[in-house]
Amino acid sequence: MRRKIVAGNWKMHKNLVESQALVTEIRGIVRDELLSNDAEIVICPTFLALPSSIKLLEGSNIAVGAQNMHQEAQGAFTGEISAPMIQSIGATHVIIGHSERRQYFGETSQTCALKTKAAINNQLTVLYCVGETLEQRESDAHWTVIEEQVRLGLQGISAEEMKNVVIAYEPVWAIGTGKTATSAQAQEVHAFIRTIIEKQYGDQIAQATRILYGGSVKPDNAKELFAQADIDGGLIGGAALKARDFFDIIQAAV
Ligand code: PGA
Repeated sequence: MRRKIVAGNWKMHKNLVESQALVTEIRGIVRDELLSNDAEIVICPTFLALPSSIKLLEGSNIAVGAQNMHQEAQGAFTGEISAPMIQSIGATHVIIGHSERRQYFGETSQTCALKTKAAINNQLTVLYCVGETLEQRESDAHWTVIEEQVRLGLQGISAEEMKNVVIAYEPVWAIGTGKTATSAQAQEVHAFIRTIIEKQYGDQIAQATRILYGGSVKPDNAKELFAQADIDGGLIGGAALKARDFFDIIQAAV
């Protein structure tokens, strides 16, 4: 049985004060209303809000992750933040290869593999994102695109290290657009990703690896998506910025 994960990707939203308010609100609702601890809950605010979020969530069952990191441990990389730095403040997760990083910051699956390795070496759990654009889907290229992103992004990651990897399938055409992949469309790709992992690492690891869906997940579609055999939770953007919506999505996973 794979434990479901609901992770909130706050992207470049919320200043420090706003972040603290949202963290406090989420913590309160989860503490007062969540009846089961069956799902793993993660929030990924901006770098600036990570330390205070971690502090505010001490003693709760909500983990905190970063949205990106650099593959080197340190050095002359102005403006960047490394895995040991993220680990040193007590964050436990990191999103790698989000489509916005690929699209606007030239990130490739090859760089993602280096980042993933560095993250794992620093005890971080990686949420590795893959997903096709609308054009790729319309030309039926999505299978090849996704297979390549999965293979290249996991290059150099051992079977043992796969314990620390979670895959997030996020079709680019569904991110922030209000257009969700249907649960059948998502399930089909999730099952495909699991076969890629199986070919590379064997059945046991394929069955144990969690694959999240992301792209316009909302309280009203989460339940159906999370009920699919190969969908193990969600990476949530817009709806993660509203405590009540985020909580309702968590409820759909438990
Ligand atoms: P969305 O974003 O839920 O706003 O579509 C998901 C993501 O980009 O991780």
